[in-house]
Amino acid sequence: MSRYTITAALPYTNGPVHIGHLAGVYVPADIYARFLRQKGNDVAFVCGSDEHGVPITLKAKKEGITPQEVVDKYHAIIKKSFQDFGITFDNYSRTSAPIHHETASEFFKELYENGKFIEKVDEQLYDAEADQFLADRFVIGTCPKCGNEESYGDQCENCGTSHNGTDLINPKSAITGNVPSLKQTKHWFLPLDKYEPWLREWIVEGHKNDWKSNVLGQVKSWLDDGLRPRAVTRDLDWGIPVPLEGGEGKVLYVWFDAPIGYISSTKEWATETGKDWELYWKDKGTKLVHFIGKDNIVFHCIIFPAMLKAQGEYILPENVPANEFLNLEGAKISTSKNWAVWLHEYLEDFPEKQDVLRYALTANAPETKDNDFTWKDFQTRNNSELVAIFGNFINRVVVLTNKYYNGQVPVAGDFSQVDEETLEKLKEYPGIITNSVERYRFREATSELMNVARLGNKYLADEEPWKQIKGNPERVQTIMNVAVQIATALSVLSEPFLPFTSTKLKGILNIGLSEVENSWEDVASKRVLLPSGHQIGKAELLFAKIEDAEIQVQLDKLEATKLANENASKVIEPQKEIIEFEDFTKLDIRIGTILEAEKVPKTKKLLKLKVDVGIDTRTIVSGIAESFKPADIIGQQVSILVNLAPRKIRGVESQGMILMTDTTDGKLAFVAPEREVKNGESVS
Ligand code: MF3
Ligand code: ZN
Repeated sequence: MSRYTITAALPYTNGPVHIGHLAGVYVPADIYARFLRQKGNDVAFVCGSDEHGVPITLKAKKEGITPQEVVDKYHAIIKKSFQDFGITFDNYSRTSAPIHHETASEFFKELYENGKFIEKVDEQLYDAEADQFLADRFVIGTCPKCGNEESYGDQCENCGTSHNGTDLINPKSAITGNVPSLKQTKHWFLPLDKYEPWLREWIVEGHKNDWKSNVLGQVKSWLDDGLRPRAVTRDLDWGIPVPLEGGEGKVLYVWFDAPIGYISSTKEWATETGKDWELYWKDKGTKLVHFIGKDNIVFHCIIFPAMLKAQGEYILPENVPANEFLNLEGAKISTSKNWAVWLHEYLEDFPEKQDVLRYALTANAPETKDNDFTWKDFQTRNNSELVAIFGNFINRVVVLTNKYYNGQVPVAGDFSQVDEETLEKLKEYPGIITNSVERYRFREATSELMNVARLGNKYLADEEPWKQIKGNPERVQTIMNVAVQIATALSVLSEPFLPFTSTKLKGILNIGLSEVENSWEDVASKRVLLPSGHQIGKAELLFAKIEDAEIQVQLDKLEATKLANENASKVIEPQKEIIEFEDFTKLDIRIGTILEAEKVPKTKKLLKLKVDVGIDTRTIVSGIAESFKPADIIGQQVSILVNLAPRKIRGVESQGMILMTDTTDGKLAFVAPEREVKNGESVS
């Protein structure tokens, strides 16, 4: 048994939590925490809301509310959605909490008093019009490392590099769009360069075999580029005030205070539960593990460790299993573009399906490379794996046990060779899954868990109790006894991965009420997990099939977002060259009425129309089939350019052009008279 402090990146409260956060950080962290607890370890799993920083201020500006209102709103949404989703934080705090302000201020003061900072007056980017220094995300420019033109002042989201605002090429204020000037200001810097040899020794040498290669790779590349002193204070008014004389009007850099949030969250928890927080942060026997996304690697592997090292008493992370990114339907997830599956919305749409999302995200986790979430894959993972493999096996076991033995686990007779092999194989799984989880390979671990269900399915399919029940009822007792043991093992091993399912399954098997609950050790060593004579409950479906229509609702939601974004980013064309009135009078535009409409065969966009234009009734081919059904536009009055030279379109001669415009929902609209007009009237 060991003591663990597990942290999950504090989410920014400038928006709700989405599936990218879940797949990258919270689901793996929760699996790990549940797994360790189930094995009897002493675990503090802490998190909280990251409520400082420029993203919050920007959001407040955009919505015309105060930063405090922004963080209150999202803190509540995030906290509730984590809870409903079954993330088992021991404590979920927030960085606006007094305990955090105290802890972070103290931490800063201690480093200051021990001479760990450099105090320096130098030039920072300044927006004269907004009368504000352009810290962090207040400035956008070209990344000096990768050339991304939308890098933030403190970090490039494209290549992950962390830099100083003044390093940006072509910087622009995010507030006014102005080119910033430079202005002198005093700040406190952490001399990262001094920690470079130590970092290299500790990570590159010390952890080369146990840290993930994506993490090691990034760390090495930063160290090779050379570290420079980093300012840990900012000229901003939202954050933790710099607790020094001369620090008025300045706050701690959000990336200085936020990781200290892990410590304050642990303190808050310890106070509530009567524990000693220091054991979780200062005892050499405690293992500290940070779960984060790849954009946070530099802060958790370089800056925060340097802070902890500078303080001197704290333990350092044992591992930082950072994940890569999850995309959504082929595009980068984005809070500002609303391109996401939001956790709180998912829970509204699928209130009983927490485990399905956990499973889909883990089975497709971006552990070694960026991955893509698609609703189709989500549906398949549910229907072809959870329902067809896991659910199906459990259902057979429970239904047959009820049918043959009124729900009492039958007494096993002599085991056949297949029984022996199956039971031996079953015993191996706790070790196999443990091995994967301990190496942070949750994807692999989940697939091994499904292999337990596959083992059960194969066993039943081969032994066919339903065929043997007539001729060989004794044999069937043994078969069903073995099958029940596999089902019981699943209820134990699935807990970290599919916690709601595990609870439900234990309920169905009636475990934990009369019998002792089994441990992973028991599954690895015992043949009898559920004794004969034990009464199980009735069958209940563990997983329900997800229909195409439910998936379509989600796809439609995304499609609407896409259109809204396209619309928002649509540029209005500049005015064309000036023309004379005579030029205009050459256009003969008239009102007419659509009399007939039909699709042009083998085309997607074209409708063939018969239009009464007053002068005559003519045929016009128009590219409006994606916006209108033929039947809906009969009788519609429209504007037509009637003297356009006729043209053959897909074999049909079109004698004019209907005037159209684009609507905000991505469809076309007619330019039509507001009241009824005689056909043939001209538009002028
Ligand atoms: N809020 C940051 C993000 O969402 C993560 C902060 S992690 C902590 O990227 F270590 F600073 F807490
Ligand atoms: Zn970059």
